[in-house]
Order: sequence, then structure tokens, then C-alpha cells
Amino acid sequence: MNIVHTPVMLNEVISFMPNTFENIITVDATLGEGGHSEVLAQKSNTLYAIERDKEILTIAKNRLSKYSNINYINTTYDKIIDNIKEEHIGHVNFILFDLGVSLFHFKSANRGFSFNDESSLDMRLGLNDKTAFDVINKYSEKDLANVLYNYGEIKNSRYLSECIVNARKTKEISTAKELENIIFHSTKKEKRYGSIHPATLVFQAIRIEVNDELNILKKALENLPKILDFGGRVVFMSYHSLEDRIVKQYLKSNEKTKNSDGIFKLVNKHIITPSEAEIKNNPPSRSAKVRVAEKVV
Ligand SMILES: C[S@@+](CC[C@H](N)C(=O)[O-])C[C@H]1O[C@@H](n2cnc3c(N)ncnc32)[C@H](O)[C@@H]1O
Repeated sequence: MNIVHTPVMLNEVISFMPNTFENIITVDATLGEGGHSEVLAQKSNTLYAIERDKEILTIAKNRLSKYSNINYINTTYDKIIDNIKEEHIGHVNFILFDLGVSLFHFKSANRGFSFNDESSLDMRLGLNDKTAFDVINKYSEKDLANVLYNYGEIKNSRYLSECIVNARKTKEISTAKELENIIFHSTKKEKRYGSIHPATLVFQAIRIEVNDELNILKKALENLPKILDFGGRVVFMSYHSLEDRIVKQYLKSNEKTKNSDGIFKLVNKHIITPSEAEIKNNPPSRSAKVRVAEKVV
């Protein structure tokens, strides 16, 4: 079994587990290869491990096979409430959202997540029908520009969309490498070799569209007050500003509403980020931002 993803801010995440409960019920909403769950399982009586991608779920199951207290669920995290035992609803003590995709997806999945990938433009995490191929080859120029703008915050989204649509007139764009090549050659020469590759945000935008990532996150947040116990905590780890903004706005608006299911109070006033040492040891951790909230009333 080849594990490629290093869990981000593991010690910090675990330190936020509340220690006032006797029978600890935990949800790992984004199991991945099970890096965080390996420790969560040791510190919980019951752990629900949610993962939408069947392939990575199998890897995690093998890795964690010695823990008998884990319930594996192949679903999206907006469905937590439909998949935990009824008596656990309102009694969950800790939930972790380690958002986005795993290094596994970039390095091993061969689904076109990475722009050096010769594999076909797929990008599905699972439990969805649309592929990256469909978005790139079938969306209208306007719809494609909207995806690039809304999910990649790309300023020249209309121009890039026009370039993609022109390229596909000659031949369907089938692989991640082909898409990368089109974006690279549509970018001004002086911007081709900047600190991030010019295709990075395009790939992020297409992936978010294919997997409907932001809408699913918004739906998941709605149910959190119902799922958590009073004094229960939720940790959100996000890797780009679109996700972090959704979490931040939700926590702000929840504070103001008179939600009878519970109100969240921030545990950390400021965002927590990885230490320099962690970033050095595990560079993909560099963009992580953590927000922690506790259900108080
Ligand atoms: C950053 S990785 C988690 C890594 C994990 N904490 C570890 O240390 O191994 C995020 C995982 O969440 C999964 N995922 C993404 N969106 C999801 C969703 N809506 N519902 C459930 N799982 C999701 C991805 O497939 C990926 O495996």
C-alpha cells in the first residue's frame, strides 16, 4: 500500500478535540487516505469516516483495518446527517473537514487532475456524472468563462474560454496535458513562468465545477448545528479562498441568526496556518487555513 498524502496540521487538529465528553463520537468528513483518521480513531469511541471517492476509500480502509470503531461511508459530506445512527444526531463531539483533494489525486489517480497528466480529462471524485472532458468540450463559451471566473477567479476568463473553444473546433481536447498546453500558449510569454503555472487556476475551476464542490460545502454547513452536541467542535481546513470565504461567511451569519439547533462561537479568533517547519517538510500544506468553531447554545 503506497500512501502519498501527509496529513496537514495533524497535531493542531487533534488538539482541538474537546476532552469533556466520555463517549466520543467523531466524524472525519473527508477521509482521504486516512492520515487524520488514524489518530482520530484512537481518540474516539465511534468514528464515522466519510469519503466520496471509492478508490481512495479502499486505500484508507486497508490502512486503518486494525481499528474496529470506524464506520466507513461512501458519500458526500452534505449527507452526514442521513448516514449516522439516529441516536448520534445532535451528539457528535468533533467533525473535521479537510477540504479539497488529496495528493493521491494529483499523483496516483490518473484522472487528469494534474496538468502534466497524459490521462484523460476526467477529474471526477465520484458520485457525479459530469467529467472535465464534458465541461471543456461541451460547455458554451459563455458558460465556460463563468466557470473559470467563478471557480478560479481568473481575470481573463473570457479570453481563455475563447482560446479553449477555438482549439476544440479542430480536435476534441482529451487529456490534461492537451488542456495545459492550450492554456500555456494562450498566456503571455512573460507570464508563462511565474510562481504558479498559468494552468493552475483553470484546473482548480474545472475540478470545482465537475464535483460541484462549493455547493456541496454550502449544503453541508446547513446541517452542522443539528449534528453536533453542545460543546462539540468543528475544524475546517481549506486550501483556497473560495472555500475559506464560504466557511467564514457561514460562521458569521450563524452567530447572528437565532438558530434553534445551535450557535457557533469561534475557538480561534485568527486563522491558524502551518508552521514554517511543516511547510518545509510538506510543501502542499503551505496554503492551509484552519478555522475552528464550537457549538455553544
Ligand atoms: C485533503 S483530502 C483529505 C486528506 C486526509 N485528511 C488525510 O490526511 O489523508 C480531502 C478528501 O476529501 C474527499 N472529498 C472531497 N469532497 C468531498 C465531499 N463532498 N464529500 C466527501 N469527501 C470529499 C476527497 O476525495 C479527498 O480524498
